[in-house]
Amino acid sequence: MSKKIDYDIKDIKLATEGEKRIQWAFREMPVLQILRERESSTLFKNMVIGACLHITSETANLVITLKKCGAKVFLTASNPLSTQDDVAACLVRNYEIPVFGIRGESIDRYYEHIRQVALRKPDLVIDDGADLIVYLHKNPEFAINVKGATEETTTGINRIKNIEKDGRLLFPVIGVNNAKTKYLFDNRYGTGQSTIDGILRATNTLIAGKVVVVCGYGWCGRGIAKNLKGLGANVIITEVSPLRALEAVMDGFQVMKIEQAASIGDIFITATGNTNVISEKAFNKMKDGAILANAGHFNVEIDVKSLEKISKKISEPKPMVKEFFLKTKRRIYLLAEGRLVNLGCAEGHPSCVMDMSFACQFLSLKHFVNNSDIEKKYHEVPEEIDQKIALLKLSSMGINIDELTETQKKYLGSWNFD
Ligand code: ADE
Repeated sequence: MSKKIDYDIKDIKLATEGEKRIQWAFREMPVLQILRERESSTLFKNMVIGACLHITSETANLVITLKKCGAKVFLTASNPLSTQDDVAACLVRNYEIPVFGIRGESIDRYYEHIRQVALRKPDLVIDDGADLIVYLHKNPEFAINVKGATEETTTGINRIKNIEKDGRLLFPVIGVNNAKTKYLFDNRYGTGQSTIDGILRATNTLIAGKVVVVCGYGWCGRGIAKNLKGLGANVIITEVSPLRALEAVMDGFQVMKIEQAASIGDIFITATGNTNVISEKAFNKMKDGAILANAGHFNVEIDVKSLEKISKKISEPKPMVKEFFLKTKRRIYLLAEGRLVNLGCAEGHPSCVMDMSFACQFLSLKHFVNNSDIEKKYHEVPEEIDQKIALLKLSSMGINIDELTETQKKYLGSWNFD
């Protein structure tokens, strides 16, 4: 087993560029600005925070804020393809925050980086996809100090709930994804915009007039579909949930099975959190030139192994675009190796929405500090945190809202059976 290393990044000389990018993002993170200004510099004193997040300029602003509040933060990548190397360099050089992540790293190095953070025996954990939380459960000798963890995504929460169901959860976990100030904005508007951003940066294709198949009508799928419609695409939704499918129909989209959509679509986007959503049967029906992209956390939604198997030749006509020349002589283009297209081909969600998600991460960690006896199970984000973030965000926009009058409060509380 390897020893502790101080950090592992691509190139420290990239730090100056990284600083500019971090400052640019911070302009659009007013809630995090307020927390950085107002929260005590000793809030996380003597605490080690292990963070497994996409290493972006927005994440940098979160970990800098945690450090300013007294934490010793160790940051590792939550995806091998999403690290912004200049941001990683800047955190190490300018902020003395140990970072483990290199864009395009091998899977072995990716897990070695997670191990490096686990070796620090964190007191608190922030995760995106639960790879660090899973590692700590498989290596419980590193989990002895953990008082609580927070999880950013639907996929991560699903994994944590499975650990809990097996009765094996070692520490309490707060599911940040399920806060309204997270999924209503980050998933809907953040993924909704950045997924299209990734596809456009990689291919420069025209959306107007195209048939785009969106697999999954959760909050991410809804955001993607709505924006595509605004750009003039004909959007088809595939779903497994009757309720979501019905909602998609009433939102004005065509809904059908993937097998039927396969032969009609020009672009396919997966946003389900599930595996093998687009597989061999569908590939074989696709038009020549079909483009495939994934917006879900893991690279399991598009069955890339089968795509390789049915291909005669694979090439890379553009960065982050792989051409699969099928035995049937049709070409299929896969973006970002089937990994998160918004982070592989673009810069992830805009800072403005990450502001709320990361404020929620920060305040959930604070909740663990202020509630040392919190039960060892899965928890939702407390309602007061959601309310606080929404108010701070509105006020940063210069928007004031009405408050209930005493008469109105009385009226709402006055109804009874008699
Ligand atoms: N997940 C999606 N977009 C992100 C971003 N910009 N920063 C961190 N995590 C993200």
